[in-house]
Parts: sequence; C-alpha cells; structure tokens
Amino acid sequence: MSRLVCGTCGLRLPAGSSLLQCSCGGLLEARPSPPFRGRRLRSTFDQRLATGDPTGEGSGVWRFRELLLPGRGVLISHPEGNTRLYRRDELSRWAGVADLALKHEGENPTGSFKDRGMTVAVTQAVRAGATALSCASTGNTSASLAAYAAQAGVPALVFVPRAKVAAGKLAQALCYGARVLEVRGDFDACLRLVREASAELGLTLLNSVNPWRIEGQKTIVLEMLQQRGWEPPDWIVVPAGNLGNTAAFGKALVEARELGLISRLPRLAAIQAAGAAPFYHSFRSAFKRRFRVRAETVATAIRIGDPVSYDRAARAIQQTRGVVAAVSDREILAAKAVVDGAGIGCEPASAASLAGLRQLVRRGIVGRRDSVVAVLTGHLLKDPHATRAAPTAIAPRIAEVERVLKGMRK
Ligand code: F0G
Repeated sequence: MSRLVCGTCGLRLPAGSSLLQCSCGGLLEARPSPPFRGRRLRSTFDQRLATGDPTGEGSGVWRFRELLLPGRGVLISHPEGNTRLYRRDELSRWAGVADLALKHEGENPTGSFKDRGMTVAVTQAVRAGATALSCASTGNTSASLAAYAAQAGVPALVFVPRAKVAAGKLAQALCYGARVLEVRGDFDACLRLVREASAELGLTLLNSVNPWRIEGQKTIVLEMLQQRGWEPPDWIVVPAGNLGNTAAFGKALVEARELGLISRLPRLAAIQAAGAAPFYHSFRSAFKRRFRVRAETVATAIRIGDPVSYDRAARAIQQTRGVVAAVSDREILAAKAVVDGAGIGCEPASAASLAGLRQLVRRGIVGRRDSVVAVLTGHLLKDPHATRAAPTAIAPRIAEVERVLKGMRK
C-alpha cells in the first residue's frame, strides 16, 4: 500500500489519511507501491493508451493510476492529459537544438497543467469527505480548482492577488462558480493566508503543499516518456514558480527509474523569471542558502517570491544533475512571440521554458545535439493582453483592405 511520509521529520501515515500537512510543518509525500514493475508496468500503461482505458475515462492522468492514488471509488476527472508534443523547425533553430519537442500542457481542459494535479487531489479530497476546497493562486490553480470543484459539487474558495491575475484565468474561476477572494497582497501573502485559514476553518487545501497534487503532476513526465516509447530525452525544461512541477518532475523520474520504466535519468532545467528568481539564487549558492524575494515579472503565473516546494525541488535538481536558470521579461516575451508565431501559442510563464533553453544552449550547458523536451504550461488565451500585436482598425471600404494588403507585402 502507498503511504504518506513527512519530508522533514520522517513521520509515516497511511495513504487514506485526511492530513495534508505534517504537524511538524513539513510537507507530506506519497510513496506509491504498484503491484508490479518494469516491462509489465509499462505494458499495462501502453495497453490502456491503446484501448482507451474505460475505467480511467481515457484520462492521460488516470492511465498511470498505480503510481498516483491508492484505493478505489469516485473519480473526479474531466478527463485530462493526452497533450501533444510539437516539433517545429523554426523553434528548434531559435533555441539552438536540433531535437526539440514542446509538450503543450495548455491543452488540458482548463488550459493549464494544473488539471493533472487537480483531478488526483480533488478525487482524494472527495473520497476523504471534504466539504469545502481552497487554494491560493496566480490564476491557473484557481481556474482548475473551480472547474473540478464544480464537477464534484463541492464549494471552492480561492485567494488571488488583487490586480495581478490575467483576465482569462479570473473569468474561469468566476464562471465555474468558485468564490474568488481578491487579497490586497501578493501570491505569497495569499498562500500564507489560505494555509492558515484552511487549518483553522476546516477547508481542504488544494495548493501543491497537498501531496496528491504532486502525484498528478508527475504524469506530465510519465506521459511524455510514454509518447517517446519510454526513451528519455537528455533534458526536460520547465518554468518554475512555486516549484510544484520541478518537485513532481524529479519525483516522477526517480520513481520511473526505480520501477524500471526507464533506464537513465534526463536532466531537469528549471527556469525562473529574473524578477522572481529565489530558487535560481539558491542554486547559485549550491542550495546552501534559501532566498525569499519580492517578486515582479510580466509572467504573472510565476510571480512568486517564496516558493513552497523549495526543499523537494532542490532535491529534484540535485538528483537529476539539473540546473536552474533565470530569464528576463524581454527574453520571455521574445520566446512567446516565437511560440505564438509558430501557430502554437502559450502564456508568458510558459515561454520561460523556451527562453531558458535558448540561454542554456548559448552558455554551452545544453548541447546542440542534446534531445530536449520543453514544457509549455498554459494556453495563449489565459493572458490575452500579453502581446504587442494589435488589430488594424479600418472603415468598411475595400480600398482600405487593399492599402493594408500592400503594407503586408512589403
Ligand atoms: N506556468 C504556469 C502557466 C503556471 O500557472 C505556474 C504556476 C507555473 C508555470 C509554475 O509552476 O508553481 O509548479 O513551479 N501557477 C500557480 C497558480 C502558482 O496559482 O496557478 P510551479
């Protein structure tokens, strides 16, 4: 049976525990124990992919259920996952690596990777009898929680930093029916408040301090490995804010190797926005110091100064011989323009991965012949204002169309 272990004091709890944080303040971690391993586990996952997996509702998350949440019962699934890998020559050229694929997590039901963690954590919460769900968010987590809470029929309370959430995300949380609290403070203040409020008021907290969120987000990596026939790339590049994904990716990779799904570990590259880069500064100190900063960046999704999964993300970087980089807002917007211009599109935080990859190639850390998968975390429509492109206003006359057309041909 899987169980929960505290990453700080080592306390062990049964997986069915309704506790989501250890009494010592440490974060709990799930330890899955699937009934089989290696080739048999791989072919179980592959068969479900081939046949559509009716018990997992065709979900690209629940296909890997032995590694996620033990027990049976209700499943709160949209379904999610099954996101594509994109290859485009112009993106490879821009980044400087020939073998580049972008995994687009913006193709999840609410437009970001958060749905993968949310389906697992909301399912666990409902099975454990939760009566109200909560989270702090820069936008995507609240959109995702709102959708899964609506499906489960459980009320959700979301805490967001006032005037710092992109329009599309706020609309989602409101439309799906969550109660949205705009906090006069930044994301870090929202997270402190929701952790305290949830403990005091009996709300089930759905931020990535919840171990089941991390379990669900492992499937970004598991699905990507499966899409590549279980042949790992040399590098996986991911934007990094609160560090849930960085932690989840490391956990997925180490477990995948221990279970014989893969035989070698890819290296992780976590990319922060330069104005919100406490983890990058820590990395530069060989993780000897932990930094907290007042965060500012155009990539509002990762505008986070005190990431909650710091310790486990540091472990993920160390275990995979990974690196952490920081990119400026200019680099982020330049990368976004290239992803958008390829007809793929993403939100600004997502573009940090491609911007970071280009920088790492230029610095000689990622080799031009290395194989790379970079993750795009959210959909272009999440943040429709993050572009310099603007429509051309015209009067309803063909001469005006002709004039515009001439300008385009130049
Ligand atoms: N990319 C996007 C689009 C995000 O929304 C987030 C986090 C990240 C990257 C960073 O991922 O936190 O796992 O390091 N968004 C959270 C939210 C904080 O509230 O939606 P991370």
